[in-house]
Amino acid sequence: MDSLRIELGERAYPIYIGPRLLGDAGLLERVLGRRDVLVVSNETVAPLWLGRLRSGLGTRRLAQHLLPDGEQYKTMEAFSAVLDALVNARFNRDCVVVALGGGVVGDIAGFAAACYQRGVDFVQMPTTLLAQVDSSVGGKTGINHSGGKNLIGAFHQPIAVVADTDALSTLPQRELRAGLAEVIKYGLIRDEPFLGWLESSLDALLARDPAALAQAIRRSCEIKAEIVALDERETGATRALLNLGHTFGHAIETAAGYGAWLHGEAVATGMLLAAELSQRLGWLGVAEVDRIRALLVRAGLPTDPPRLGRTRMLQLMRMDKKVREGQLRLVLLKRLGNAVFTADYSADELELLLKARVGEAAP
Ligand code: NAD
Ligand code: GLY
Repeated sequence: MDSLRIELGERAYPIYIGPRLLGDAGLLERVLGRRDVLVVSNETVAPLWLGRLRSGLGTRRLAQHLLPDGEQYKTMEAFSAVLDALVNARFNRDCVVVALGGGVVGDIAGFAAACYQRGVDFVQMPTTLLAQVDSSVGGKTGINHSGGKNLIGAFHQPIAVVADTDALSTLPQRELRAGLAEVIKYGLIRDEPFLGWLESSLDALLARDPAALAQAIRRSCEIKAEIVALDERETGATRALLNLGHTFGHAIETAAGYGAWLHGEAVATGMLLAAELSQRLGWLGVAEVDRIRALLVRAGLPTDPPRLGRTRMLQLMRMDKKVREGQLRLVLLKRLGNAVFTADYSADELELLLKARVGEAAP
């Protein structure tokens, strides 16, 4: 088992990465003690992995709540149902909410933990690649609104992340590819050598080579840990870098209808759009943008946004949480491995890019 730590003072916590962790009674006892546990999972993940987790939980007061599966259920109703489960189980403030699943389960369960009795502990047990490299770490929790992705939520750090890499064995290939988008993101924003490693290791990653996956998860979590420790609540310009491609991507997800594009797919296309804008601003060369596109294509990720028209696209992008004082701030690339968060770009170039890539008006 590998482990690292998110250094956040009194909210610091460990990330455990490795095979067979969900059934590891010793590890679970260390993380959860003998406390009451509500496991939140969904109807897809529970039949696959809840048995292993239960085998490691020993005897304790244990309740479970299964959510319907899908981004379209990341709603107020789903959130409310988790709170009902906590109340019905008569759990007190010393209970622990365990999120067993992908980013949707983790975001909803974490938000419920943030709100129940003004905040109870929760543990992330991510089962998708995307959740193991990104959503389980850093304490962003929440739900969608019909007007925009993740518009309602709270910062609430987990007390631990337990990433059992065996869980990835049952993940559909499309979901694995979507998770790779967020892994590629870390190379683009922070670590050009890691990007090179991803280019040479991509075939092994797509074939789920355990050593390659473990290395990708480890490096992604290290970069996320470093950034979250610097700017936990995204008050500065650092944590926003983790949102490379997300302003474009969230607009695509919202326009397409939640669940039509996977989050990682929308982020992949969004990262390419951010790179193309960076090229228009003279920051990236054509060869660098081609390199990004080639990697995304090899990973089986989409690189063309839907033709929703630039007005609609901009309207949705302006719902982004990074808008301040009316200014749409974007994460762009000064060079590969060096992202910036800025409002200092040409709005005309953004308009021209959107016109070329999403069309002039909705069809
Ligand atoms: P997801 O949670 O929808 O999971 C993807 C699919 O895989 C689902 O159908 C799920 O049931 C299934 N699944 C999960 N684990 C499985 C397994 N081991 N075997 C088989 N099937 C499995 O999607 P995701 O990509 O994990 O997460 C995307 C969500 O995470 C989005 O809502 C996004 O907004 C959010 N997110 C949050 C953060 C954050 O910091 N909180 C960061 C990135 C993304
Ligand atoms: N996924 C973006 C963040 O955690 O800040």
